[in-house]
Amino acid sequence: MGTLDGRVVIVTGAGSGIGRGIAHHAAREGASVVVAEVNAENGASSEKEMRDAGGTATFVNTDVADDSSVDAMVERTLETYGHIDGLVNNAGVDLEGETTAFNTETWRRVIDINLAGVFFCARACLPTLRQKGGVIVNIASVHATHGFAGAAAYDASKGGIVSMTRSLAIENGPHGVRVNAICPGYVDTPIWEHHLAQQPNPERLERLTREHHPLRRRGTPKDIAQAARFLLSDEASWITGTSLVVDGGMGAQFYEQSFEL
Ligand SMILES: NC(=O)c1ccc[n+]([C@@H]2O[C@H](COP(=O)([O-])OP(=O)(O)OC[C@H]3O[C@@H](n4cnc5c(N)ncnc54)[C@H](O)[C@@H]3O)[C@@H](O)[C@H]2O)c1
Repeated sequence: MGTLDGRVVIVTGAGSGIGRGIAHHAAREGASVVVAEVNAENGASSEKEMRDAGGTATFVNTDVADDSSVDAMVERTLETYGHIDGLVNNAGVDLEGETTAFNTETWRRVIDINLAGVFFCARACLPTLRQKGGVIVNIASVHATHGFAGAAAYDASKGGIVSMTRSLAIENGPHGVRVNAICPGYVDTPIWEHHLAQQPNPERLERLTREHHPLRRRGTPKDIAQAARFLLSDEASWITGTSLVVDGGMGAQFYEQSFEL
């Protein structure tokens, strides 16, 4: 018996990293998973891996920044599975840079994917989630609660997710829908590898980011997947409107800004 048996869960950005970890863990716990992913190759391989392991999964090519693409993904989910119990808004991009050199197009891309994407997916799923009750889990970041130089757009997008989480929770609690966020610390995924490769001194940054976590390691997708599974399940049935910090203790301590831009 899995804790998500019979549940239909959409995970955005489930072709890679944290989203892939969440999707695969949910499938192992009995959920039918919709991989809502913009990267077709990764989306298809994620679907295949879950099916090969005996799980139920469907890849739907989706751009969360495009509301018509999101609406079509939700429609396809309903055609395939008949209902929706959970939505994990995980898709995101981490585009950073010094503010005076940060162009408008990149600002819009970060906000459109990371923030508007969460709203579009929630808006499209809520009518169905309200029918029998359901859960939304939004993947924010330590960037929602702490400021980082060169990350104005990313920090604003993640802070916005935490604010939106509270608003959606209040609005939808009376309809039986719980809405929570997870704020991860640094997690080893392709987004992180990409970030590291752009730094002038990646070895130093690699060491420092480990040391920034009192538990002395960066997180794994599984660390976040376990928290998401908990929030998706009935074990969290009286938890809504909150942000669960899963960061190896990173946010609990004061530390000096060490990123070199
Ligand atoms: N890795 C970290 O250290 C870390 C820390 C805190 C929060 N996060 C957040 O976790 C989430 C996942 O990050 P990750 O580290 O796994 O990154 P990742 O790059 O490995 O995965 C992100 C996934 O989102 C998909 N995606 C991007 N734009 C999309 C779009 N428009 N529509 C649909 N899918 C899209 C990508 O194709 C990719 O599969 C992001 O929201 C990120 O901001 C990551």
